Amino acid sequence: MNRLLILGGGGHGRVVADIARLNGYEDIGFLDDSADCGDLPFPRLGKCGDTVRYVADGDFIVAIGNAAVRRNFQERIAAAGGNLAVLIHPRAVVASSAVIGRGSVVMAGAVVNPDAKIGEGVIVNTAGTVDHDCEVGDFAHVSVGAHLCGTVKIGHGTWIGAGATVINNISICGNCLIGAGAVVVKDIRQAGTYVGIPAKLLHKTL
Ligand SMILES: CC(C)(COP(=O)(O)OP(=O)(O)OC[C@H]1O[C@@H](n2cnc3c(N)ncnc32)[C@H](O)[C@@H]1OP(=O)(O)O)[C@@H](O)C(=O)NCCC(=O)NCCS
Repeated sequence: MNRLLILGGGGHGRVVADIARLNGYEDIGFLDDSADCGDLPFPRLGKCGDTVRYVADGDFIVAIGNAAVRRNFQERIAAAGGNLAVLIHPRAVVASSAVIGRGSVVMAGAVVNPDAKIGEGVIVNTAGTVDHDCEVGDFAHVSVGAHLCGTVKIGHGTWIGAGATVINNISICGNCLIGAGAVVVKDIRQAGTYVGIPAKLLHKTL
């Protein structure tokens, strides 16, 4: 029986669990530091810190929204020889020439178009789109309904907020937060939080 361990039993973790089930995982369990995760669809087997104990037992996915925490756990799993899954919802559209790195999740209604390169530990959330030739850095997050037009580059750990749009041929450096509904029309070279149409700097640091 194929087993998947999901780190993180929050709302995001429950969406990930549903995709895992649709991807054919039959034995699914959560690792979460909170003993009271509410109503999980699959058993909580232990804490995130127990990861290494389970490394030989199955595949892993880190379903934690914070990019730095997601990265930390994913690197620990990889260093311990664990296998990181790639989960793609059956109702997502992913071009055959797109590349998706380990530990990444593509959710329902998302589109990843030809020759896009999605790094490791990336979230392409519900109905988010990544168009042709985009490069999405490791541990980035394209939120619900956000759109990257063609040939956009997103740096490591950058979070594109819900419903935001990045027009074609734009580069955004790592560790940025693009606010919900923003439209990015110029390259962003300084890490920070950007909001509005056109997107402007709100805070210099996250
Ligand atoms: C951008 C964001 C991170 C700002 O959060 P914050 O640093 O706590 O900022 P504040 O809420 O204190 O707001 C500061 C100012 O920015 C404005 N602002 C905040 N978010 C904004 C947005 N998305 N677009 C336009 N203006 C925004 C606020 O109205 C406020 O303006 P004011 O000073 O004139 O009152 C947050 O609002 C946001 O958009 N997060 C994205 C959430 C998301 O997309 N989640 C998706 C999960 S899948």
